[in-house]
Amino acid sequence: MVTLDLPGFVTTFLAVMAALFVFAVGVGVLLIAILYLIDITQTQHAIRRNFPVIGRLRYRLEHLGVFFRQYFSAMDREEMPFNRAQRAWVYRAAKNLANTQPFGSTRDLRPPGTILFANATFPTLDAEPASAKPLVIGPACTQPFPARSFFNISAMSYGAISKPAVLALSNGARLAGCWMNTGEGGLSPYHLEGGADLIFQIGTAKYGVCDGQGGLDEAKLRAVAAHPQVRLFEIKLSQGAKPGKGGILPAAKVTPEIAAIRGIPVGRDSRSPNRHPEIADAGALLDFIDRVRSITGKPTGFKQVIGDPRWLDELCREIDRRGPASAPDFITVDSADGGTGAAPMSLLDYVGLPIQESLPLVVDKLAEYGLRERVRVIASGKLVTAGEVAWALCVGADFVNSARGFLFALGCIQSMQCDKNTCPAGITTHNPRLQRGLDTADKAERVRHYVENMRHEVEIIAHACGAADPRQLRREHCRIVVGPGHSIPLNELYRRDEQPPRQLEAA
Ligand SMILES: Cc1cc2nc3c(=O)[nH]c(=O)nc-3n(C[C@H](O)[C@H](O)[C@H](O)COP(=O)(O)O)c2cc1C
Repeated sequence: MVTLDLPGFVTTFLAVMAALFVFAVGVGVLLIAILYLIDITQTQHAIRRNFPVIGRLRYRLEHLGVFFRQYFSAMDREEMPFNRAQRAWVYRAAKNLANTQPFGSTRDLRPPGTILFANATFPTLDAEPASAKPLVIGPACTQPFPARSFFNISAMSYGAISKPAVLALSNGARLAGCWMNTGEGGLSPYHLEGGADLIFQIGTAKYGVCDGQGGLDEAKLRAVAAHPQVRLFEIKLSQGAKPGKGGILPAAKVTPEIAAIRGIPVGRDSRSPNRHPEIADAGALLDFIDRVRSITGKPTGFKQVIGDPRWLDELCREIDRRGPASAPDFITVDSADGGTGAAPMSLLDYVGLPIQESLPLVVDKLAEYGLRERVRVIASGKLVTAGEVAWALCVGADFVNSARGFLFALGCIQSMQCDKNTCPAGITTHNPRLQRGLDTADKAERVRHYVENMRHEVEIIAHACGAADPRQLRREHCRIVVGPGHSIPLNELYRRDEQPPRQLEAA
């Protein structure tokens, strides 16, 4: 028999390790036995009752699947809300990497509803496509706003997104010359710090400008308007992701600072009502717009997801009766499939019209009442790539807003955690450990590149279509597949052969 002559300390070490191993195995077996007993006796989960212990893996794997399927199983064009091709386009644009691809398109051009652009047979010879000129919003206001960029940052409140995210967006917006919307959570120092043009959103709870009873505090509104950076006021009627429901900021995200900015208690769910108490019809909306515009001297409009389109007639008739000066300076049309920090799935999935249907309805209704020049149209809802933005401009949008496109620019990986304070990219969390990953200066540059590359690629599409610049894109430049091997131009689809010429107002 061979005996090993080991030094004493080694023998002791091995003995301790062996004892620890036996102990760990014992604890493990005991734990499994306890879980087994719990699972087999509980009555709530059939799978765990039938397959004790192992059935628990299902929940863990389901959770991990959200993170990992994008890397292993999902094809380039099949994920929702955004597929890999869309996300990769934004990531590359934001990193200012070449957005060229080898071999060919992975986009299936055959299904009905597919959008195609009609290239001009003899495109203009300009070496560089022309940029869109600024467009003035609210020219009759005391302080009109010459908006430089047709692509801008949509409403996301400080609260729904983190301090470094707000800082990166506001700095990036300044660098790119686009605007940033504050969202319904009020004006934070971080919005101002970046130095960008801001849209102040008045949500249904009127956070930051509320009189304590749900009404408007005019002194607070004046104080907000006194900031030269605040260029526009947007009254939020509804948002695509949750029409008919107010905003929800879960208690975990209501920090003392956020509570102070909003004027609400700390650590309790922040819920805004489903509508402004004083706005119950088209007349009341125009009254409220007039009130905000008179107090602030700045262009004022509203944001809505369209439900029953007949209300647009009601609104336009009321404007017609009062005169064009009473009209909103802009309407933000949000899509039913827009994003959110938190919303009930039934509203996310089923309520409201998608932008593909609502945008042409709004544009055509304004044209019908001779208001197309008076009221600027801003479109939002999953318009995150150049093709999607160019489509909106063809249909008649004056501007396009994006929220989630900019989240991707900030490094979002679509882990769908926005309501949990656990965002792994540090964007929708107030956990300092997770926020650490979001470098404000680096991400501000990404925001800038995303906007600049977006504008550039829309210019390239316009150029290919023979349009002088993106604002000259028209419905005839864009086609939609309606059946096998058959596409028609959008002006035929919407049966409006000619849009009224849009007048450009230089800044
Ligand atoms: C995290 C997050 C927070 C949002 N907060 C607001 C808000 O405060 N007010 C609002 O009107 N819309 C809000 N939205 C909706 C966006 O402004 C936008 O209307 C919608 O997401 C469509 O754009 P997208 O598809 O590019 O994201 C939020 C969206 C996200 C993703």
